[in-house]
Amino acid sequence: MLLSIRKNTHNRGSNGPLPLLHESSTLALVARRQYPRVSPGRPSRPSQNPSPESVPLSIGERVPAHVAIIMDGNGRWAQGRGLEREEGHVEGARAVRETVRTSREAGVRYLTLYAFSVANWSRPRPEVAALMRLLADFAEKERKELRERGIRLNVIGDLEELPTFARRAVEEAKAYTADCTDMTLSLALSYGGRRDIADAARSLAVRARAGLVLPEDIDEEFFHRQMTTHSLPDVDLLIRTGGESRVSDFLLFEAAYAEILFLPCMWPEFTGATLKEAFRTFSQRERRFGLTSDQVRGQNLGRTFDPLDSSEA
Ligand code: FPP
Repeated sequence: MLLSIRKNTHNRGSNGPLPLLHESSTLALVARRQYPRVSPGRPSRPSQNPSPESVPLSIGERVPAHVAIIMDGNGRWAQGRGLEREEGHVEGARAVRETVRTSREAGVRYLTLYAFSVANWSRPRPEVAALMRLLADFAEKERKELRERGIRLNVIGDLEELPTFARRAVEEAKAYTADCTDMTLSLALSYGGRRDIADAARSLAVRARAGLVLPEDIDEEFFHRQMTTHSLPDVDLLIRTGGESRVSDFLLFEAAYAEILFLPCMWPEFTGATLKEAFRTFSQRERRFGLTSDQVRGQNLGRTFDPLDSSEA
């Protein structure tokens, strides 16, 4: 049986131990902007939805095809400077623009940003209103540049739950960029990973009851097609800023084999240089997808265990 491994699983660097990202001083340094400081599967089929080949960053380095980011720390960044939380989100929107540009220039194919979770609806009303305004503003002002750069805007989650002005702005930007093919920018809006899985299960149950789907039709790929992330490949690199080490209901199904980087910087401090440094760290990771190191390095690619082969007993 042939092993199917993506090319970017082979490029672990040879420079000693891999850095622990939350302790990585380089990343902490490149993320620090000059702001005034006021106060302190199965082995033989590793991926149900493999992402396209990643592209080179520089010699020996590869850019992940699908990058997903939990943009955490806007509130703390602002409060640490004696500002309102909303001002942190404004600065966060600036970091979004820079991240989109850098990703496109580096050759990322899919960038998915956690912009507003299902749980975020429970935040204070003025903060939710400010986030909705920022989102509409982003969609209205950036759609021209997105199109010029060949970036398609996509939404995961439930756009219908947004206030009309924000929903319209996003829908218009989606339509305006619909034929762009160089990169897909997905905004997670009113998104929850568990909810997406439960909704997919419910829709399959309804169709099964109507006789339109048979239990044996349902595998990982088929299931994924029912989710709002259906047009996205598996996540290669998941980044979370803000110093916390958790995934907070983001892309639970799609990030099954993602490399995860937890960064100490707050989201407004995140720059293009931080992103490129993250790509460098990603290049040094050995992605094994449940296999052994020898296997992914192309050695010992002999027979794999076949449970249906009686000679294995
Ligand atoms: C988490 O930081 C961030 C959010 C809930 C919203 C993210 C929004 C933006 C980055 C700006 C607008 C988005 C777009 C796409 C234009 P937090 O507020 O939870 O920070 P904290 O943990 O320090 O309180």
